[in-house]
Amino acid sequence: MSIVIAVDGTAASGKGTLAKKLAGHFGFAHLDSGALYRLSAFSVLEAKGDPKNEADALRGAQTIDFNLAGDPRIRTDIVGQAASFVAAIPAVREALFDFQKNFLDHPPGGAGAVMDGRDIGTVICPTATAKLFVDAKPEVRARRRWAELKAMGIRRGEEDLLRELNARDAADRSRPVSPLIQAEDAALLDTSDLGIDAAFAAALALVSAKIERALKDRHRS
Ligand code: CDP
Repeated sequence: MSIVIAVDGTAASGKGTLAKKLAGHFGFAHLDSGALYRLSAFSVLEAKGDPKNEADALRGAQTIDFNLAGDPRIRTDIVGQAASFVAAIPAVREALFDFQKNFLDHPPGGAGAVMDGRDIGTVICPTATAKLFVDAKPEVRARRRWAELKAMGIRRGEEDLLRELNARDAADRSRPVSPLIQAEDAALLDTSDLGIDAAFAAALALVSAKIERALKDRHRS
């Protein structure tokens, strides 16, 4: 079985940055599962479809253009909102399940995988080697998202962003399929008062014993 670190959490909590840094530290492959939902939503919006409509959303998930994974256009708050709509549709989650599972079973490079999202430790990989649940105070997350968008040349009011983040988290938490929830065996990491380096040190402290043990076991067998 692969060595997997599952990093779930709320919007703009810093989970993506932490997942990337953990992957770099251990030499593991990284997948931002949120990008799959953002790409699906982007595809729907480009086709002038409705992200809340099942047929449109499923077509979006089936016509993902992976070349756009690094495109800043999928990072906007509008696409984030639409991603939350398509992500609530069971057929979309089913369509994206195998891709995620396959990534974890056969991580590029072979060493292991870090995947971040909302349901990695609960639905995609309940047997993950180590699990983190990343959160921060809503005001802190709104400020981070504001700075992120500003760096992309998008000016948004912090108050509006706060309202949107809270609404999206509430929708993600309350949907019947794969809701945003901390897995019982996930370690909680609150990054409200932590800069990137401190948050990474805290994340590493929470997962490293489990990962080192799994690496040793693998070496022995
Ligand atoms: O970057 P941010 O935290 O704002 O969001 P994201 O991780 O890119 O995810 C965008 C949306 O996709 C979320 O609000 C969720 O509704 C959905 N998502 C999901 O349902 N399951 C995942 N594993 C990842 C994202």
